[in-house]
Amino acid sequence: MRLMVTGGAGFIGSNFIKYILREHPDYSILNFDKLTYAGNLDNLSDIEDNPNYEFIQGDIADLKGVKEAVGSGVDAIVNFAAESHVDRSLDNPSVFIITNVLGTQVLLDAASEFNVQRFVQVSTDEVYGSLGSEGFFRETTPLDPNSPYSASKASADLLAISYYRSFKMPVVITRCSNNYGPYQFPEKLIPLFITNAMDDKPLPVYGDGKYIRDWIHVEDHCRAVDLVMHKGQPGEVYNVGGESERENLWITDFILDYFEKPQSLITHVKDRPGHDRRYAIDCSKIKNDLGYELKIDLETGLKETIDWYKNNRQWWEKIRSGEYLKYYEKHYLQREKI
Ligand code: NAD
Ligand code: TYD
Repeated sequence: MRLMVTGGAGFIGSNFIKYILREHPDYSILNFDKLTYAGNLDNLSDIEDNPNYEFIQGDIADLKGVKEAVGSGVDAIVNFAAESHVDRSLDNPSVFIITNVLGTQVLLDAASEFNVQRFVQVSTDEVYGSLGSEGFFRETTPLDPNSPYSASKASADLLAISYYRSFKMPVVITRCSNNYGPYQFPEKLIPLFITNAMDDKPLPVYGDGKYIRDWIHVEDHCRAVDLVMHKGQPGEVYNVGGESERENLWITDFILDYFEKPQSLITHVKDRPGHDRRYAIDCSKIKNDLGYELKIDLETGLKETIDWYKNNRQWWEKIRSGEYLKYYEKHYLQREKI
């Protein structure tokens, strides 16, 4: 089987490529990635010489480049490529529409032209919007996105489903909750707070910090995508969640306690506009229909992740000295305290 993985130099895509090469050593992988600020080939340095791995730098919104790659013969496409950070989407929505919406449509067209046997659209629970204190997102929950990021992902999901309904494209969609684990870019909550705590920098908690996310280890997500790629029913959506709902302040305290750092590092800053209060996933469909099981509990996974950032300082220091620094200064150092 030859897989085209788009966005394979990012956080989840790079973990997925390594997962597949480990679990299916006879598969070959074409990693197609634009290498934006979030794409980092260092994430793949340990497998770059694997004869079953190949990299092409390309943009999923560029039809010519995508056609060349898909036309080289691929059995399945797993689309991770996206602009993925809510805060950046509030600053500059247009690139989210170009990559997440137009890019997905270009990939779908190429997949259709070259008769690709499987198209996995990797989506997010954020397309469902926000929950109150009760209830769960089910696959039947109406799409109700609140940020330009989640609106662009919801649009891509609708396009993907339309290609199944109109052209019988064998599309499957996964909608996963918040991931954590090694190689996550340190602008997202968990890696930002781990690396800041290590260096005694403030942890910028948005608003009251009582926002709730359902955390899943990236390895559990990769296993779910692999399962859906092989066994999911075309045209179906599968929710994937970690069954580990926590307030942001719980995560913050866990990290501070781990390093024995003081609570005074917590800085409450101005809230994110349109901030979704709570996400929680009902993933009984993937469990019942495909036999999915979660393997990594949050406390164990978080400790391992913290240790990974402790042991791989050179990985994130290199990132922090680049383009990210400008973004960090604008968003965190100049963000109003409350
Ligand atoms: P990431 O930002 O770490 O990586 C995105 C990757 O896509 C990068 O390597 C980047 O270079 C590449 N890319 C961006 N624009 C591209 C383009 N136009 N063409 C080709 N490549 C491009 O993101 P991530 O956290 O690894 O998320 C991967 C996917 O999973 C995204 O689609 C995201 O919506 C989805 N997802 C993420 C989470 C999460 O918690 N991180 C949860 C659910 C779903
Ligand atoms: P994030 O990691 O950006 O993921 P998402 O917005 O996709 O859920 O944020 C997770 C939660 O943490 C969200 O409620 C926003 C909050 N947050 C902070 O309080 N401070 C921060 O510096 C960041 C990046 C996020």
